[in-house]
Amino acid sequence: MRALVIHESLTGNTRTAARTIVSEMAAEGWEASECSSRQVDLRALQQADVVVVGTWVDGLILFGQRPGGAGKLAKLPLLGNKPTYVFVTYAVDPGKTLDKLTAEITERCGDVRGGMVIKRHKLHDGAVEFARRVIDASAGDIEASAAEHTAVVDLAAGDSAVVDA
Ligand SMILES: Cc1cc2nc3c(=O)[nH]c(=O)nc-3n(C[C@H](O)[C@H](O)[C@H](O)COP(=O)(O)O)c2cc1C
Repeated sequence: MRALVIHESLTGNTRTAARTIVSEMAAEGWEASECSSRQVDLRALQQADVVVVGTWVDGLILFGQRPGGAGKLAKLPLLGNKPTYVFVTYAVDPGKTLDKLTAEITERCGDVRGGMVIKRHKLHDGAVEFARRVIDASAGDIEASAAEHTAVVDLAAGDSAVVDA
């Protein structure tokens, strides 16, 4: 599997989480890389089977939370309806930032399959858990698409049986 992890980061936490996610995927045999939302690696995006987008929570700590760097996210290249997973890093309370990020990334034509909030004091463990969930969910996707393929083959066999009769 090939994955691109795109991050928007002000003080480095989200970038660090993105790098941890890439390491976990690589340990699983994935070809994964990361880039900033300010300079998206278009070649890696084109080749990716899975896209991850992460940003930070911007707000008044307990109120008005929203995705940080929303201006940059709104200008992301279109994601081509690829399976996409989102995450946010935060300090105290992420509010509805994950839902807002999901909406933003859906606008950029990402097929958002899921997301997770990661507390900055548990950055490493949170990023590892998120990566594991993405890897597991993608394995499910591969099985589902193989089952779909088998169903098509079965149908074709049925058709040819009718012709034979
Ligand atoms: C301007 C600003 C506003 C923030 N607002 C919130 C907030 O409303 N709620 C929260 O839980 N964390 C808030 N944070 C904390 C960041 O979301 C958190 O530190 C995050 O991990 C930063 O990611 P980064 O290092 O990738 O920029 C804020 C941080 C900054 C700099």
